Amino acid sequence: MRRQLILQGFLMVALVLLTSGVALAALERLSAETQECLKCHRDMPGIISQWEDSAHWNAGVGCYECHKAEKDDVDAMDHNGFSVAIIVSPRDCGQCHPKETTEQEASHHAQAGDILNTKDGMLGQTIGGEPAVAVGCRQCHGSLVNVNADGSLDTNTWPNTGIGRVNPDGSKGTCSACHTRHRFSKAQARKPETCGKCHLGPDHPQKEVYEESKHGILYRAFEDEMNMDSPKWIAGEDYFDAATCATCHMSGTPNQPATHDVGTRLAWNLRAPVSTRTANWEKKLADMQDVCSACHSSSFVEGFYTQLDSFVALYNDKFAIPAKEIRELLMDKEVISKGDFDDKIDWIYWELWHHEGRRARHGAAMSGPDYAWWHGIYDVAKNFYTGLLPEAKEACEKAGKPEVYEEIIAKYIDGRKEHEWYTKGFDPNKVEEMKAYYRERYNQEVK
Ligand code: HEC
Ligand code: HEC
Ligand code: HEC
Ligand code: HEC
Ligand code: HEC
Ligand code: HEC
Ligand code: HEC
Ligand code: HEC
Repeated sequence: MRRQLILQGFLMVALVLLTSGVALAALERLSAETQECLKCHRDMPGIISQWEDSAHWNAGVGCYECHKAEKDDVDAMDHNGFSVAIIVSPRDCGQCHPKETTEQEASHHAQAGDILNTKDGMLGQTIGGEPAVAVGCRQCHGSLVNVNADGSLDTNTWPNTGIGRVNPDGSKGTCSACHTRHRFSKAQARKPETCGKCHLGPDHPQKEVYEESKHGILYRAFEDEMNMDSPKWIAGEDYFDAATCATCHMSGTPNQPATHDVGTRLAWNLRAPVSTRTANWEKKLADMQDVCSACHSSSFVEGFYTQLDSFVALYNDKFAIPAKEIRELLMDKEVISKGDFDDKIDWIYWELWHHEGRRARHGAAMSGPDYAWWHGIYDVAKNFYTGLLPEAKEACEKAGKPEVYEEIIAKYIDGRKEHEWYTKGFDPNKVEEMKAYYRERYNQEVK
């Protein structure tokens, strides 16, 4: 009994020595400056706890290492004897992570703040209004962060972690758009919810498409078995159940390293009014197919791309190019004005490509059948036949130029196999076949 007590006492002392040793070791790893920050900042327990759970804490990277600023930096603040900045820009992170930062700088993500002179920009700024742009567009795309005289940040432009934020030091983007502070975790960034902050909604529903795809279903079913926090995360080796957004667009495979340039595996531009190939698309295609090959056979992958490419061609040739040219013709013939969003048809055309047409293409590219069809080409077709064409007709009649509409029908509808049903009606043989089918299948007459 007594022996046991002595042993317990000994163990207690050993434990105390050990834990204080660990605490000391941690303190030793932290710089003297960071230890000063911590003295006051202990009363921001949220931030401290996040940081203490991070790889940075483990590596002795503290408050000062990230927030320090040179006295003449535009956003340097005099802060209790230190020169610090609130913004920790990609350039700051890049001092220790040059590879990720160089790739991020080269990506479209870094350019996303440059939206002022686009049609979307006009829609936001003029038709909406500045405050809506600040809490809408810029929270995804990034603000141009302005600095007050004392180094504090202009609150009209901050807080903001938009993906293409223009920082006071001139660098572009925010690493914390994906690696939220102060954990800066790669496991978190691999999860689809991270991208879903921005990649969702009526004009780019990648998150919703993903959720209805087999990959999204499997991700939810087996998330716990996917080793999301593994140091390396190679598709097919470290996990195999499902692909996430990061798997296909960023993470490594047995044959290629991870990349922070999310465009390096895209062979199409699927967000433009009419889809075109990207520069060096063959290489990009091969790199994406290499990702798929970690879990699928090559004929499966080829089949997927045959279907995707045909679908993009259908969208382009049947709807997008004619719709674009019809609107341009109406402008040339002075039926409608040349500006954007000042004629009803401008809005119809906008939704046709920017919402419906994108949804369709994103649905096809990421295996979400409901978005490819019902939220996609179905809506495009409905808008083309019951919105765009009737509106073109009415605008021509109102302008006293019915011959322009006749020209449109002759050029784009009549004599084009894929559209002739619009003026000539459905093929009577096909209609008969359909009626027979319904009679046989449901014992029903179709009128
Ligand atoms: C003497 C106490 C003290 C010291 C030392 C100190 N801070 Fe602070 N810090 C504060 C207080 C107080 C605030 C304001 C908190 C608030 O407004 O809620 C603050 C705010 C900040 C902010 C946010 C500023 C803003 O406007 O959002 C940053 C970033 C920051 N400190 C970083 C640091 C760093 C890095 C160090 C060490 C180099 C440090 N601080 C040292 C007390 C201190
Ligand atoms: C790995 C780099 C890094 C480290 C380490 C770090 N920060 Fe930060 N901190 C950031 C980033 C990034 C932001 C967000 C600013 C931005 O978007 O550029 C931020 C923002 C802040 C803010 C303002 C935002 C808010 O939510 O109020 C405070 C305060 C702050 N940090 C305090 C600290 C303190 C205290 C420590 C040490 C315990 C610390 N930081 C350690 C990178 C870091
Ligand atoms: C002073 C150097 C330094 C700075 C500045 C720095 N980091 Fe780190 N970072 C490190 C070290 C060291 C590690 C740990 C490396 C390891 O575990 O292999 C790390 C790890 C990481 C990781 C991997 C975390 C994980 O889950 O394994 C991410 C993500 C990261 N940093 C992002 C950032 C971001 C974003 C910034 C800027 C806001 C930043 N770092 C600033 C040194 C730094
Ligand atoms: C919910 C986040 C979000 C909001 C809000 C948002 N966007 Fe976007 N925007 C995106 C994403 C994500 C893309 C890329 C879509 C893709 O690649 O399919 C994009 C694409 C764009 C593009 C096309 C860029 C290119 O290279 O082709 C422009 C221009 C644009 N947005 C401007 C705006 C403007 C202006 C507003 C506000 C009126 C706005 N966006 C609101 C997330 C957003
Ligand atoms: C679009 C989202 C996104 C942005 C923005 C982003 N990252 Fe990452 N980052 C990721 C993902 C996803 C991973 C994990 C990749 C993988 O699976 O290996 C990652 C991994 C990392 C790692 C760990 C690398 C390793 O091999 O362990 C570091 C370090 C890192 N990022 C730094 C940064 C820095 C610095 C920035 C800003 C310049 C940044 N990230 C911006 C998504 C992002
Ligand atoms: C904070 C908002 C935001 C987050 C988070 C975000 N993105 Fe983006 N992403 C955008 C915007 C905005 C664009 C359009 C940029 C442009 O072209 O101007 C875009 C473009 C893209 C593109 C097209 C790139 C190209 O070269 O055409 C891909 C692919 C992409 N993002 C993937 C991802 C993935 C994967 C994640 C998560 C790991 C992610 N994004 C996280 C906002 C975001
Ligand atoms: C199974 C792989 C896979 C997954 C998972 C995946 N994508 Fe994609 N993504 C693709 C393919 C394939 C394309 C079209 C490639 C091309 O252009 O050749 C694409 C295209 C894109 C584009 C470019 C769209 C444009 O307008 O040009 C964006 C943005 C994007 N994906 C974001 C995401 C986001 C966000 C997620 C998660 C919610 C995600 N992806 C999940 C494979 C994937
Ligand atoms: C990490 C493994 C993994 C990666 C990487 C991956 N997939 Fe998958 N994928 C799966 C699994 C598992 C299924 C479910 C198969 C089933 O339906 O039984 C699946 C299903 C699919 C389906 C639906 C098949 C069906 O019969 O419904 C398509 C299409 C698909 N993947 C295409 C792709 C493409 C294209 C890529 C690359 C851009 C890719 N996948 C990358 C694991 C992966």
